[in-house]
Amino acid sequence: PTLGIVVVAAGSGARLGGAEPKAFVALRGVPILERALRGVFDSVEPAQVVVVAPESHVKAARTIAERVAGGASGAITVVAGGSTRQASVAAGLAALSAEVDTVLVHDAARALTPSALIDRVARAVRTTGAGVIPALPVTDTVKRVGPDAVVQGTVDRSDLVHVQTPQGFPRADLEAAYASATDEHTDDAALFAAHGGRVSVVEGEARAFKITTAWDLRRAENVLGAQTA
Ligand code: CTP
Ligand code: MG
Repeated sequence: PTLGIVVVAAGSGARLGGAEPKAFVALRGVPILERALRGVFDSVEPAQVVVVAPESHVKAARTIAERVAGGASGAITVVAGGSTRQASVAAGLAALSAEVDTVLVHDAARALTPSALIDRVARAVRTTGAGVIPALPVTDTVKRVGPDAVVQGTVDRSDLVHVQTPQGFPRADLEAAYASATDEHTDDAALFAAHGGRVSVVEGEARAFKITTAWDLRRAENVLGAQTA
């Protein structure tokens, strides 16, 4: 496959506070990683899927990935992650096979991401030849606040968006950006842009929200309703 999808799942999930790393916490009976990989494997283009897992959970991640992939398990790679998300992405990139020319980086914590979003981002990377990220408009009013808790003003939100994953890039350009990155960036698009890359947005999906806190996990459970498998 010429598409590579790096699914980062090596975080501990401190804010969720589960007994296991977040990707292995059950969401209506199915691990978060497994739910995320269902979306990935339902996407249309054949892909090499690289799962980045905590060192302690590499085997568990492989079992989950093979269960989701079924017959397509030849295209799965599982590697151990690092101490930051950026280090985990770097570990995933290092495991891509030679023929991959387009890379998507995706958070396992966005467990309910529809496959249509993965397709949309992959297509847009190929059309634009540049970075592509899913975005949704900011709907809350945004304030700038001083250290004294006093509101200094209202930020014009008309050109603000909040962004999601998967984030897609031409492989060579993303690798070059990672090779020269020294600072920590909040997402791959910021790292890519810091090294001169152009990034544009496509429409995101409400279901691609990130499970960060216990509240988010309940939200995901509610979205799934009675669906326990
Ligand atoms: N991630 C990773 N390696 C890390 C840190 C994060 O692969 N060292 C992954 C997480 O597994 C997750 C995604 O990056 O799928 C987004 O990170 P986040 O939601 O912050 O997850 P955690 O870091 O696990 O959560 P927390 O920050 O609450 O500990
Ligand atoms: Mg984190």
